[in-house]
Amino acid sequence: MISFYGVSKFFKVKSGFLSRTPLVVRALQEVSLTIQEGEIVGLVGESGSGKSTLARVLMGLYPPNAGYFVLDGYDSRTMKKKDWLSMRRDLGIVFQDPASSMNPWMTVEQIVAEPMAIRKQSLQMPKKARRDRVVEILEKTGLEATVLKRKIHEFSGGQRQRIAIARALVLKPKYLILDEPISALDVSIQAQILNLLKELQATYRFAALFITHDLSKVQWISDRVAVMYLGRIVEVGHAATIFAKHRHPYTEALAKSRLDTNTDTRDFYALSGEIPSPINQPPGCSFAPRCDRVQDVCRTVFPPVVHNESENSQYSCYNPIPL
Ligand SMILES: Nc1ncnc2c1ncn2[C@@H]1O[C@H](COP(=O)(O)OP(=O)(O)O)[C@@H](O)[C@H]1O
Ligand code: SF4
Ligand SMILES: [Mg+2]
Repeated sequence: MISFYGVSKFFKVKSGFLSRTPLVVRALQEVSLTIQEGEIVGLVGESGSGKSTLARVLMGLYPPNAGYFVLDGYDSRTMKKKDWLSMRRDLGIVFQDPASSMNPWMTVEQIVAEPMAIRKQSLQMPKKARRDRVVEILEKTGLEATVLKRKIHEFSGGQRQRIAIARALVLKPKYLILDEPISALDVSIQAQILNLLKELQATYRFAALFITHDLSKVQWISDRVAVMYLGRIVEVGHAATIFAKHRHPYTEALAKSRLDTNTDTRDFYALSGEIPSPINQPPGCSFAPRCDRVQDVCRTVFPPVVHNESENSQYSCYNPIPL
């Protein structure tokens, strides 16, 4: 199981050419979330809401300013460098743009075997066994052994993402981080890759954090969905019901924008009100400037999390939508 406990991550950025005082970007604020074994948790939120930052905290790239996470026996507060390395064995990662994380001079075989090489597994493994493992996982992702000696530029976007998924799964990790894995692909290819991920999940039973800003896909692949707004998780619920039965007004706005059939305007921007900024956040609920249920209390402190233990759901709102 992966559990985040009150994770906050701030970045200092230059405020301008002449100003000396840096501005603080509140990329994550008191984020708490669990991912159970074998569970796919979708993380949705508009661009800049902190989704990738949360993934990077889990990868050990950004030490949090507050809070911590626990992944099985690993606790981010006490982990040493060697612990991060061995934890990463249990964590496969797929990004939006796989080519950017792949060496153009390496063959597919080398790319997919890379996690084994980094973790020195390959040293103990005979070359033949290592190749068999690479071929096995490539075939599971829909590629044939004939691709082994080819280079990444010879493949289409969808095939590259299959190679990236094979690399992420080559060590059979218990957990996957999928950071917008389909966002850069053609719509027709997106469905193929999602289907593939579902099939692979049925085979390998990994748990995953599936990050996306695509509201129509997230429901289909996830067990639960967490909704992020300006660095905070404002609601978590079951994927099957969250866009029909939710408590938070932001989730409501997302649910409405999902129904917009015009794909040019669909997405998160159907909302009116000020454009949100993670730099100048108002006191209280950060959604207040755009919320049609806002009350005076909303502008005091951020609303506490209300848990529903039996439903494994939660929301943060002073004036939630009635059930
Ligand atoms: N290394 C960084 N330095 C400064 N600001 C950052 C850095 N990484 C992310 N941010 C800022 O943190 C916020 C959240 O970013 P990110 O996690 O990438 O959002 P998302 O993945 O949801 O689009 C954004 O405002 C972004 O500009
Ligand atoms: S706390 Fe208030 S402002 Fe924030 S979402 Fe709920 S009703 Fe709207
Ligand atoms: Mg991102």
